[in-house]
Amino acid sequence: MAQRHEWKLMHLIGLEYLSAEEITCVLDLADEFREGAVRAGSSTGTLRDRAVLNLFMEPSTRTSTSFAIAARRCGAEVITFSKAASSTSKGETLVDTARNIEAMGADVIVMRHSAAGSARMLAKNTSCAVINAGDGRHEHPTQGLLDLMTIRRARGALEGLKVAIVGDIANSRVARSNLWGLTKLGADVTFVGPPTMLDAAFEKLGAHVEHDLDSCIGEFDVINMLRIQLERHRDAAFPSLREYARRYALTEERILKTRPDCVVMHPGPINRDVELPSVVADGPRNLILPQVSNGVAVRMAVLTLVSQARDAHMAKGGEVA
Ligand code: CP
Repeated sequence: MAQRHEWKLMHLIGLEYLSAEEITCVLDLADEFREGAVRAGSSTGTLRDRAVLNLFMEPSTRTSTSFAIAARRCGAEVITFSKAASSTSKGETLVDTARNIEAMGADVIVMRHSAAGSARMLAKNTSCAVINAGDGRHEHPTQGLLDLMTIRRARGALEGLKVAIVGDIANSRVARSNLWGLTKLGADVTFVGPPTMLDAAFEKLGAHVEHDLDSCIGEFDVINMLRIQLERHRDAAFPSLREYARRYALTEERILKTRPDCVVMHPGPINRDVELPSVVADGPRNLILPQVSNGVAVRMAVLTLVSQARDAHMAKGGEVA
């Protein structure tokens, strides 16, 4: 087996800040955990005697639950709390919340927050390892990693693959994390969406930009469909959901125009009959539930790596970053 890259990062803020070797290191360890089939009641022991705090200041089903399962399967104690249950709803600052959590002995903080940059700010103000579980429109690195893992397991490698990411790109942290991860591992990324949700500036980040899905749909090995994030829209970005679906939904008719081996992904939650009709969302091409299963293994890998890096940092008398 190839020598694994020596991981030194005690925070995971975004895939923009990882090298190809660091990304591959996470994916390889996640594959090992997946193959090892660690199940409920068993543990890798890689976070034994460690406490993981799941701090979710925006709603989540998959990421919050997946981190909780992953932390337990690594042997950690897990505490999960939401915005409504925390004293931030009484006006406490995020840094004060984090310092109090740290004082109780937490080792790792997993945080989702509506503000871009919040995970980095937290990392600068705590001695806990910090994992970004989604910060505003900025990044959702573990979603990006689980998407990379899912594609790599389905297609063997990422190098040279043509990947389309379709939908509300402007508001999507998933699109940004996928772009960084995919391009670093050699895939070719095309963002597809209406001009109100996708501007040409994304070309500077390394993506191709297309507004007409029908003109390019036959080119791709992977199509990753995104939800329209109405909660982040200030003004209407299209006349109606029906009009959006007419131009950008991955319908059965459009599936017939894709490559025969093209796979369909979606980070969830799906808005059925907007970006995906049920016949495609539940159809044979989709990797949507494998994405969720791979998410547990990816999060076990990330928790293990950042926790070990934090241990090494603290052993050297580590200071807050
Ligand atoms: N994919 C994703 O982040 O889903 P949740 O919002 O349910 O965590």
